[in-house]
Amino acid sequence: MQTSLIMQVLGVAESAAIAAAAYNGRGDKHAADQAATEAMRQALNDIDFSGRVVIGEGERDEAPMLFIGEEVGRGGVDIDIAVDPLEGTNLCAYNRPNALATIAIAPKGSLLFAPDTYMLKVAAGPQSVGHVHIDAPPAQNVRAVADALGKPIPEVNVCILLRDRHRELIAAVRETGARIRLIDDGDVFGAIATAVPETGIDLYLGSGGAPEGVLAAAGLKAIGGAFMGRLAFDLDPHGVEKRERAEQTAAIDLDAPLTIDTLVSSDDAAFIACGVTDGEMLSGVSHVGGSTTTHSIIMSSADKTVRFVKTIRRGKTGTIRF
Ligand code: FBP
Repeated sequence: MQTSLIMQVLGVAESAAIAAAAYNGRGDKHAADQAATEAMRQALNDIDFSGRVVIGEGERDEAPMLFIGEEVGRGGVDIDIAVDPLEGTNLCAYNRPNALATIAIAPKGSLLFAPDTYMLKVAAGPQSVGHVHIDAPPAQNVRAVADALGKPIPEVNVCILLRDRHRELIAAVRETGARIRLIDDGDVFGAIATAVPETGIDLYLGSGGAPEGVLAAAGLKAIGGAFMGRLAFDLDPHGVEKRERAEQTAAIDLDAPLTIDTLVSSDDAAFIACGVTDGEMLSGVSHVGGSTTTHSIIMSSADKTVRFVKTIRRGKTGTIRF
């Protein structure tokens, strides 16, 4: 991905985060999500590229904006986009840590159209590539990461979404002696954090949204991290298993393990997240003395780096980036 495009997409994530942050702690996750989505869409439509939303706010009939298949941009190079304008809607509504505005880009045809169902996920940083597997028991993945990082197991920190369905998983990880960082929401953060040593998170395990899985996979693919998934089907609001719909749309074996290369087939990818609320990876949006400050992470395959960008917008007079 060209640096100029990445910088423009950074601006897209920042716009969404600023719009969402106006709702931090206001208890209205729908308003926050809508504000982020509108801002993100508007900013995407200002870029000179031909963007196609592969992961978005839902199917065309249920999402008015940034629906799957929507085309954005003013024309130019063909790019696949995965977005979650507000990842962690409740985190924003209740001002809890790690609500993010997220976006990933890759060449057209390289992001998987993941169905709107659950995905079992395992994610870890670059040192653990080839050592973790979606079908391995939790204890095996914990041991593998401990070995790869050269740490004793009690120093390994595993991030897991706090859900009833994860009771057995949590018990199995506890039995290894590893630490657990339970999160209320936001598993894109949980997976991405494994590649950011400052967060202290070494391994992500558990099930969350499949679309969020593609976003996290794009970030980890960009910097050479580990990610693997497997779809898991719940029921739609009409009581029909989501597998039926997925069979019509997804061009993959629904029962096979999803490697990082299935989820993101190109080696050319970038992932950007901008903090909405304060968290251990990114600070949230702040307004001081007429300026608005945002903090973002960029993971880019161009040089396999993780970069942190602080941007200060000084009213209408200009933008300063550090
Ligand atoms: P929203 O941003 O749509 O509220 O999703 C938050 C989230 O926690 C995701 O990070 C995660 O993948 C998914 O919800 C988990 O779903 P569930 O709450 O059904 O367990």
